[in-house]
Amino acid sequence: MKELDLRAVPVNERSPDKIINAWKELNQGEALRLINDHDPKPLRYMFQIEFKDSFAWEYKQQGPEVWIVEIKKIKAAAPLSDEQKAKREELKQILKKLHEAKPEELNAVKKEAQKYFREVEPKELAMAEQELIQEGTTRTEMKRLCDVHLEVMKGNLGVKAKKLRLPASHPITICKDEHKIIKRNLRRLKALAEKLKQAGSFEKAKKHLDILKELSHFFLETEKHHAREEKAIFPRLKAHGVIEPPLIFEEDHVEFMARKKVLNELALAENKGDYREFLGKISPVIEFLTTNLTDHIYKEDNILYPMAYETLDKDEWKEVRKKFDAIGYCCFAPADLKKKKRS
Ligand SMILES: [Fe+2]
Ligand SMILES: [Fe+2]
Repeated sequence: MKELDLRAVPVNERSPDKIINAWKELNQGEALRLINDHDPKPLRYMFQIEFKDSFAWEYKQQGPEVWIVEIKKIKAAAPLSDEQKAKREELKQILKKLHEAKPEELNAVKKEAQKYFREVEPKELAMAEQELIQEGTTRTEMKRLCDVHLEVMKGNLGVKAKKLRLPASHPITICKDEHKIIKRNLRRLKALAEKLKQAGSFEKAKKHLDILKELSHFFLETEKHHAREEKAIFPRLKAHGVIEPPLIFEEDHVEFMARKKVLNELALAENKGDYREFLGKISPVIEFLTTNLTDHIYKEDNILYPMAYETLDKDEWKEVRKKFDAIGYCCFAPADLKKKKRS
């Protein structure tokens, strides 16, 4: 493997061009090993802008004294054609329009957007979002924007996503199967919220409160699912230059965890006091989870997973599966996976 040890080079002579040129000379599949005395993050951004899908960035050591990174050439760099560039610009404009639309204009803009989204590949959408963030749209704004275009896209991307037919042992299938179970329990939780409202007192709600305990425990168990996404799939996406979408999903996970803990605390509390007060606390938590976690899953099934499937190669998916097994599965995992967990 080609190696460049920058520690021996005076700081003012460490030009990124030298590194980029050395990398350009590599054949497909080869990697450049870079050794440095600080994190070469800015270089990574340069690679992202210039080589996008053609490189994989993998830290072998991250400080505190020495940073070692391997920059692999995944495929020969193919710059975006003028047509692709124009398409991406168009997509960015429509995303911006959706974001900036006044409430009275929103319906018309949504209609227009639908036309574009019908054609768009999940990965292209993610890259357009990433560019918008790099150009200054904040991640919070992007998240709000995601919710609007999610609404527009429902029904459009779904058709494309169904084409992904993978074996049961594939990490994506495992996650999607888990999603089905999570969604089923989200529906149960939603129905339960209604019953809790109708019950009117702790006494009358006893049966429902027992189900609430069971469900809140279930949702805590889903953490392993999120952990596998974060630790096995996301780092690989990031190494391929897909940085922003995983960050948005990670932020969601943090918010869900906080709510799941509150749900669990409320479910296990000695429920005696004011029933109205209890409802006032638990209803918004349930509302948040049933709405946002359902949308999160939709985005993963229809955008993030298809994009990850396109981005990672076969060997990487094998590694993802190994990491899945190492992290472990939820109590509701398919039987053959649970056996694996025990052995
Ligand atoms: Fe997730
Ligand atoms: Fe998920």
